[in-house]
Amino acid sequence: MTHDTLNINRRPRRLRRTPALRALVRETTLRPDQLILPMFICEGSDRRVPIETMPGCDRLSIDLAINLCREAVDLGVASFAIFPVVEDHLKTLDAVEALNPDSLNCRVVRALREALPNATLITDIALDPYSSLGHDGLVSPEGEILNDETVHVLRDMAVLHADAGATIVAPSDMMDGRIGAIRDRLDDAGHQNVLIMSYCAKYASSFYGPFRQALDSAPAGAANVPRDKKTYQMDPSNAREALVEAALDTAEGADFLMVKPALAYLDIIHRIRAASELPIAAYQVSGEYAMIKAADERGWIDGNACMIESLTAIRRAGADCILTYAALDYARWWRDVSAS
Ligand code: PBG
Repeated sequence: MTHDTLNINRRPRRLRRTPALRALVRETTLRPDQLILPMFICEGSDRRVPIETMPGCDRLSIDLAINLCREAVDLGVASFAIFPVVEDHLKTLDAVEALNPDSLNCRVVRALREALPNATLITDIALDPYSSLGHDGLVSPEGEILNDETVHVLRDMAVLHADAGATIVAPSDMMDGRIGAIRDRLDDAGHQNVLIMSYCAKYASSFYGPFRQALDSAPAGAANVPRDKKTYQMDPSNAREALVEAALDTAEGADFLMVKPALAYLDIIHRIRAASELPIAAYQVSGEYAMIKAADERGWIDGNACMIESLTAIRRAGADCILTYAALDYARWWRDVSAS
């Protein structure tokens, strides 16, 4: 072994020598107020129904949801994405419960708006929680997911959510033309200030499994009804197509563009970031969350560290804000490191 000092002009390791130096040159930070907490809401009061495949996430009745939101606001997380668990007997072929002004979704939005006037409330615009077939759109007798017919329902649904107090409506259905139609209808109804966060590059992903279990919303039904969402959600093999969707949604009036899932689609976040000046949201979906939690439970990885690393990577790729079921875990970690 010789110990000759190498004549290296540039030594990048110098910048990594101390925590203070590393902090000086850190390029990416993620604050709790850049996180959006998705929440599953169920009927009842004082009711908490755990989601088996998403440790740490429960379906909550409205009263418990209000408590959780207050806790989140205290931790610096002020944005919430609401997903109602629609009772089985209300799921129909025409998904008509989506247009009920007293639906669970509208009731929780009204209650949260009253309890937390300054919170950002984001509602999901799609028919799957209300459809007995589990599809985001209306389905023809031949098993086709109908585009324009669905958009007619979605735009009325958006107005109901805005009436109830939604800050942002978030169409997650991937029908063509829905952003423009929803914008027009919101404006006609006097909701010029309600924002649209478009699930713009939403992939036909297998990472949505735990979410569909939480809502009991997996595609199902007659033999000719597709068991997947590949005729409307995007093919995971495609990237250029995401830019087409981004351009269309921008032209139609979207305020935010969303990429979903997140970790397997960092290149898509990056490409849309380069192509657009709009804010970009990324959705760390249920399967991404479940994988980290499951491996952590087995002691195979340090779940908290992996969660922080994943979220930081999503932000580094170009996301302005992130929907994550781990929002409160992250915010607690942030509070603890800020205090130390
Ligand atoms: C449905 C919707 C889905 C998710 C959000 N909205 C599921 C799907 O498209 O089947 C998935 C979120 C997650 O997996 O965390 N419109």
